[in-house]
Amino acid sequence: MKITIRQPDDWHLHLRDGDMLNAVVGSSARHFGRALIMPNLVPPVVTGADALAYRERIEQAVAATQTVNGFTPLMTLYLTDTTQAEDVVAAAADGLVLAVKLYPAGATTNSSSGVTDIGKVMPVLEAMAKHDIVLCVHGEVTDPAVDIFDREARFIETVLQPLRLALPELRIVMEHVTTRDGVEYISSSRSHLAGTLTPHHLMINRNHLLVGGIRPHYYCLPIAKREEHRLALVAAACSGDARFFLGTDSAPHTKSSKESDCGCAGVFNAANTLVCVASVFDEANALDQLEAFVSLNGPRWYGLTPNVATLTLTKTAEPNAIPDPVPVADEWVMPFDPARPVYWHVS
Ligand code: DOR
Ligand code: ZN
Repeated sequence: MKITIRQPDDWHLHLRDGDMLNAVVGSSARHFGRALIMPNLVPPVVTGADALAYRERIEQAVAATQTVNGFTPLMTLYLTDTTQAEDVVAAAADGLVLAVKLYPAGATTNSSSGVTDIGKVMPVLEAMAKHDIVLCVHGEVTDPAVDIFDREARFIETVLQPLRLALPELRIVMEHVTTRDGVEYISSSRSHLAGTLTPHHLMINRNHLLVGGIRPHYYCLPIAKREEHRLALVAAACSGDARFFLGTDSAPHTKSSKESDCGCAGVFNAANTLVCVASVFDEANALDQLEAFVSLNGPRWYGLTPNVATLTLTKTAEPNAIPDPVPVADEWVMPFDPARPVYWHVS
């Protein structure tokens, strides 16, 4: 079986910097036309000048991989308590950044410079609403009293809904949705709200992470939830609803930093995202919706045209091997193991 679709884009990608950037960028550039690049470097990408310099480093790394698809990095800014509205508006007006990322301080990897109180960034968010600049949110509360499995649902209730009521004109992407609550919240919204879904949250639940031994390579944030939530995510992805689109959240960490006393959050899935997602859609008898999810809904939300190039996926009797570990400096990055045979291949 074969399916040809417009070339996909990745609407949520961590490429890092330096050796790691050079090691992983080819995995994305091989398959994707564009990717929305997350700004959680250390120090973060806060200003337009930071984004410009980072984009140049990414372009150099892409050139060094000699993949010829013309992969385009689309940049984001990292919202801090002290971000200046004028800088955000100018960077968006220049076409330099497509969105601004809100990390609640302490929510995840490299989020210590994030927002400590949404009230502090209201002037920036008001300017973004006025100029139609998209806000991408890491939707988890950080209150230590809130259970890690409840943090997404609590964020919707205590941060997202009040924010949307206060600023109905602000367009928001709830990134890496992991719960039925998130899916239902987005599905029931009238406008100005969309959600990205990751391949790993479409394929694993919390049992994969914790049963029969702890699997550090499945640890990511938001953490994988119960099976009922995974099923809600699959239904949303396969529904054809234009508010849902692919954001891989591919987030490379070295093997030793994952397999450690205090392992880092993040799944490196860039190399096998498309075969994994095709497999999920195939199992759901929804291959006719695959192109919308990976190639059409995202550009539509961001006001861009779909890629002109195409990509062909083939299903064979031979399962696809898990991609090889990627060497970085004297270490490795371990690709996502989808925990089941995947019969799809990128042709
Ligand atoms: O698992 C994650 N890893 N979630 C995030 O939100 C950040 C990411 C990273 O940068 O490693
Ligand atoms: Zn992320």
